[in-house]
Amino acid sequence: MPHSFNRRDFIRSAALTGAALTITDSIKAFSSAKKDKVRIGIIGAGFRSHEHMGNFLQRDDVSITAIADPQQRSVDEALKVFAAYKRPEPAIYKNGDYDYRNLLKRDDVDAVVICSPWEWHSIQAIDAMNAGKIVGAEVCGAVKLQECWEVVNTSEKTKIPVMMLENVCYRRDVMAVLNMVRKGMFGELLHGQGGYEHDLRGVLFNDGKTAYNSGVDFGKNAYSEAQWRTEHNLKRNGELYPTHGLGPVAVMMDINRGNRMTKLSSIATKAKGLQKYIAEHPKGGANHPNAKLNF
Ligand SMILES: NC(=O)c1ccc[n+]([C@@H]2O[C@H](COP(=O)([O-])OP(=O)(O)OC[C@H]3O[C@@H](n4cnc5c(N)ncnc54)[C@H](O)[C@@H]3O)[C@@H](O)[C@H]2O)c1
Repeated sequence: MPHSFNRRDFIRSAALTGAALTITDSIKAFSSAKKDKVRIGIIGAGFRSHEHMGNFLQRDDVSITAIADPQQRSVDEALKVFAAYKRPEPAIYKNGDYDYRNLLKRDDVDAVVICSPWEWHSIQAIDAMNAGKIVGAEVCGAVKLQECWEVVNTSEKTKIPVMMLENVCYRRDVMAVLNMVRKGMFGELLHGQGGYEHDLRGVLFNDGKTAYNSGVDFGKNAYSEAQWRTEHNLKRNGELYPTHGLGPVAVMMDINRGNRMTKLSSIATKAKGLQKYIAEHPKGGANHPNAKLNF
């Protein structure tokens, strides 16, 4: 299978499966003017963004010029990361859900990294590309299939690259298997299977003070991902986080680099473990209102 890599392939694969370039590489590859510093804007400054910020702020050739997040608590925590790396504070956009659009108007933002709740990813990515900013979007990048196409279509229309930041493709063990695939050790791949096997109960519920393993609340009484992610488990059944499992398989099978997906099956069981977790938790119990919800 050929591994030649043109720009259109990059955009398609980036939007749908993750790509082989880092965002800093993609900026260097596609910007017309040579720059010695990449200037990043962060949209959604919660816990995940801290990891990206830490990576960026260690580099002399990257600066984070602006962040956007409507929660004061998230902004405060993000500024601690800047202080830890002794880097100048960014401009802050915290005035509601759409203040990120003011970040996108800045001339000193070359690219954005989107770390907001899932339902915001595609709309923020599309807005960013329309504003001329290169996009890295956290997992999942979109919630509905049509949103994926809108991201691809906007990238093709604006000629701005977008990368879905599927980090599992770059795990050491996953890359070792990819290397074995590339060497032909399995012959021609005919079937791929991946899953997201992660006990998330301590992430989906907390006490509103500490993000992980601290309680049984979600929604407005909770903190970090439990504020918004758990609602998906309540209202939707399915593979809610598909790209951790799909991304590595797609890379190994050269999806969008010569092959394409023609059939995909997804299987999920009822989320009975969530009720059980609340019922058995010291801060919950069988009579806790959340233990009565049908996830
Ligand atoms: N790739 C990975 O391994 C990995 C790990 C953890 C999280 N994630 C992903 O990262 C993303 C963020 O997760 P997190 O753990 O940081 O969650 P989080 O809840 O800690 O952070 C999300 C932040 O987005 C902010 N936000 C909400 N609406 C916004 C808007 N309209 N504009 C800007 N900001 C907005 C929230 O106030 C919050 O601070 C999610 O997509 C999650 O799935 C990926």
